[in-house]
Amino acid sequence: MTQTVLVLDFGSQYTQLIARRIREHRVYSFVHPFDLALDKIRELAPTAIVLSGGPQSVYAEAAPHCSREIFDLGIPILGICYSMQLAAFLLGGRVEAAAEREYGRAEVDVIRDSPLFRNTPAHQRVWASHGDNILAAPPGFEVTASSPSAPIAAFENRERACYCIQFHPEVTHTEAGTQILKNFLFDIAKCQPSWDLGDYRRRKVEEIRAQVGDRHVIAAVSGGVDSSVAALLVAEAIGDQLTAIFVDNGVLRKHEAMQVVSRLSEGLGMHIVAVDARERFYEKLAGIEDPEVKRKRIGNEFIAVFEEEAKRIPNVEFLVQGTLYPDVIESVSIKGPSSIIKTHHNVGGLPEKMGLKLIEPVRELFKDEVRRLGLELGLEEEFVWRHPFPGPGLAVRILGEVNAARVEILQNADEIVIDEIRKADLYRETSQAFAVLLPVRSVGVMGDERTYENVLAIRAVTTTDFMTADWFRMPHDVLDRMARRIVNEVRGVNRVVYDISSKPPSTIEWE
Ligand code: XMP
Repeated sequence: MTQTVLVLDFGSQYTQLIARRIREHRVYSFVHPFDLALDKIRELAPTAIVLSGGPQSVYAEAAPHCSREIFDLGIPILGICYSMQLAAFLLGGRVEAAAEREYGRAEVDVIRDSPLFRNTPAHQRVWASHGDNILAAPPGFEVTASSPSAPIAAFENRERACYCIQFHPEVTHTEAGTQILKNFLFDIAKCQPSWDLGDYRRRKVEEIRAQVGDRHVIAAVSGGVDSSVAALLVAEAIGDQLTAIFVDNGVLRKHEAMQVVSRLSEGLGMHIVAVDARERFYEKLAGIEDPEVKRKRIGNEFIAVFEEEAKRIPNVEFLVQGTLYPDVIESVSIKGPSSIIKTHHNVGGLPEKMGLKLIEPVRELFKDEVRRLGLELGLEEEFVWRHPFPGPGLAVRILGEVNAARVEILQNADEIVIDEIRKADLYRETSQAFAVLLPVRSVGVMGDERTYENVLAIRAVTTTDFMTADWFRMPHDVLDRMARRIVNEVRGVNRVVYDISSKPPSTIEWE
């Protein structure tokens, strides 16, 4: 049986990261809310439990508390930050609420030999955050690390196999974080590195075959990585019983429609129906300037087109959706102040409306795992590392009215932006980069002629989670090449600007 590590979520923004890090060590890990019932935990029989950090004080009115008995299950426990304070509080140590929350870089000294700190420096840099101070460790626990601001920075009880630290081993700012996690997983909890995407793929294929039988399945492929990988996995299981539907909504990148079909259908043998619905979408978008109305109209029109196509296919009972594990966690996690901002759902309501059952073959995977699986299923490297592209596509990058002419301008400019970024080998360094067409015209001069044309903005950001982002410090020579090429090659643009705002307070997209 696969060994698993249960991560209980107390509301930290890093909870998902803990699970990902554990999986990076090839140990399967999953997240549940902090109040998962004890019976349920026993039933899941995890090899180890990690208790996440959290934004609260243990004394706060709505502070998340788990059952004290979790510590008596005989399962090795790693408590991080808030959970260390909670352990102190529940197990008879002393905790006081601090006046201010401490957050950021800190340095700790390992003051006692500990299996958790094995092969780590005696003095180490960590990333800490805590809202309470621990005044005394619980009876039976020994203090193993200390820092100037938190004299009790780690404690442990080896008999109980309970280890708590005041800092975050899952973030890269903690220099020995990876070693600490490894020590916990392999030396203390005796996990085996057995989580394997190949096994996952085989198991899913079996499951899908059993679930579908001789019925039919449809999938909406958007051209993105998640929906492609999900559909490919289903295609591997049931072949032509899957029909993938690809809708060209008129606001895709240049050549995207053609590429999707050739990649999945000609390249990988998937049965695809491609629908050219560009005109329908442009009609719905005519005269619309409000971003939310654009989003709604595109979403609704997509559903309408998709339903029409799906009706032509007999005996359909299932719909494939590329839901990822973070979306699943998001829906169960507690909503602390640092909890995840909702992602955008583009085809919400489709399965209910059509009376279809869902197949979500990648819902247990993180994005990086979906990418790796994509490679195994035959997608090319360049494709699986694509920047995310929003469901409403270029429509939210054309400020003001969207029409065929403006889409063409943006497609051409966008192609240059990406081309230059790739040539400068910056594609993987940026998380998202694109062009935005502004509803502004400015005066320029070309040859001897005065021009009065569109202004185009270039946006490039770095981020790990898309909830916050920094603008990318693009080298000037790359910006220069982009701007020159855009003004020279794209008819209708005579000025290029670079967006230097971070998120927050700005967002990544302009609409
Ligand atoms: P913002 O603009 O909110 O974007 O900072 C965060 C991430 O979400 C993407 N995004 C969308 N994705 N439908 C989508 O599928 C949408 O309506 C949408 N709006 C923004 C954006 O590209 C970025 O990756």
